[in-house]
Amino acid sequence: MSRALSNLQIDSGRLWGMIHETAQFGATPKGGVRRLTLSLEDKLVRNWFRSACEAAGLEVQIDALGSMFAVRRGRDMNKPPVGLGSHLDTQPSGGKFDGVLGTLAALEVVRTLNDAGIETDAPLCIVNWTNEEGSRFAPAMMASAAYVGDFSTGDILSRKDAEGLTVGEALQAIGYRGDTPVGAQRLGTFVELHIEQGPILEAEQKTIGVVESGQGVLWYDGKITGFESHAGSTPMRLRRDALATLSEIVLAVEYIAKKHGPNAVGTVGEAVIAKPSRNVIPGEIAFTMDCRSVDEATMDALDGDLRAAAAEIAARRKVEVRLELIWRKAPTHFDPKIVEAVENAAELLGYSHRRITSGAGHDACNLNTKIPSAMVFVPCKDGVSHNELEDATQADCAAGANVLMHTVLALAGVAS
Ligand code: GLV
Ligand code: MN
Ligand code: MN
Repeated sequence: MSRALSNLQIDSGRLWGMIHETAQFGATPKGGVRRLTLSLEDKLVRNWFRSACEAAGLEVQIDALGSMFAVRRGRDMNKPPVGLGSHLDTQPSGGKFDGVLGTLAALEVVRTLNDAGIETDAPLCIVNWTNEEGSRFAPAMMASAAYVGDFSTGDILSRKDAEGLTVGEALQAIGYRGDTPVGAQRLGTFVELHIEQGPILEAEQKTIGVVESGQGVLWYDGKITGFESHAGSTPMRLRRDALATLSEIVLAVEYIAKKHGPNAVGTVGEAVIAKPSRNVIPGEIAFTMDCRSVDEATMDALDGDLRAAAAEIAARRKVEVRLELIWRKAPTHFDPKIVEAVENAAELLGYSHRRITSGAGHDACNLNTKIPSAMVFVPCKDGVSHNELEDATQADCAAGANVLMHTVLALAGVAS
């Protein structure tokens, strides 16, 4: 590689400016973002992103699930594009870096290559995947899963949010039901830059995480049916209290995840009492569980222990507990060649780095089942994410974008 090319750097101020400009779409009072997938705010950021991609000379296509593909031509258009990107949707109370960094850094890479007049051999394709977060429609990362054939397009289009609106209806409402069939846009490899969303890089003062694996995920929908009765006149021994049952289940999830630790986590993130009232013993509760591990056998053990604990608690309390596994995602082991390309780029640029496992799920994990993929992590403040207070430094974001750019250049080849 020529000296001029190995010195090429993205424009850190321009990337930082884009992150803050798009954070206005769904900005929250504490500096975070609420931009649920396929909401009005998502439509606005998508429109912004489409215009910015077109202004950078990219050809934008939208697939039937609303994922956006922006192609930069390469010298050899017979070669499949190198994919780079992430997502622009956020959690209900999310930050301005989760997903956004990887998507906008991909655009910044293209702008930098344009400014430097660099043509790649293979084309590049920036992707904004629909519904990475999974907080409005389950499961998370549904569009990239459909892209690799794990779900049919029809299945995903029919998934409903809490109001009963389907993905298809929500796409129609914001004008992002595209006509490219899902999976039709070719990708030869895929690289995703993301904040770590955990504490390791910051604690070890490493700038770059070279992601070599990702945790598997178990998602459950749960329902507890007890019996509603008077809070004043029902003796304690006669109660069939759904909320007291859930309290035991929450503690069981915590105990079981710790028992299978350190490589296991478990969370009850949602709980809704059907007819809440201060002086009624709760009779019905819907709840969700999220359990993860990077080890498939540990996932099986978590599943077995959770079911046994739920059955024991239900029998003892004389209530019904239903647990439905709605999503199981196997652990990810990223492609060794792409992982090495990320590591080489970090080394070339002189950034401190370490190999790392992703605690969070990412579209790259889905892509990797069919397309050689890997990820680049940068530190985030105190390891905090899925929170309005999520933060990262301009320097670390720029470092991640530089590693992304040099990984992509190595994979696509530079036309001479
Ligand atoms: C996606 O944000 C996840 O739940 O890991
Ligand atoms: Mn994300
Ligand atoms: Mn997220």
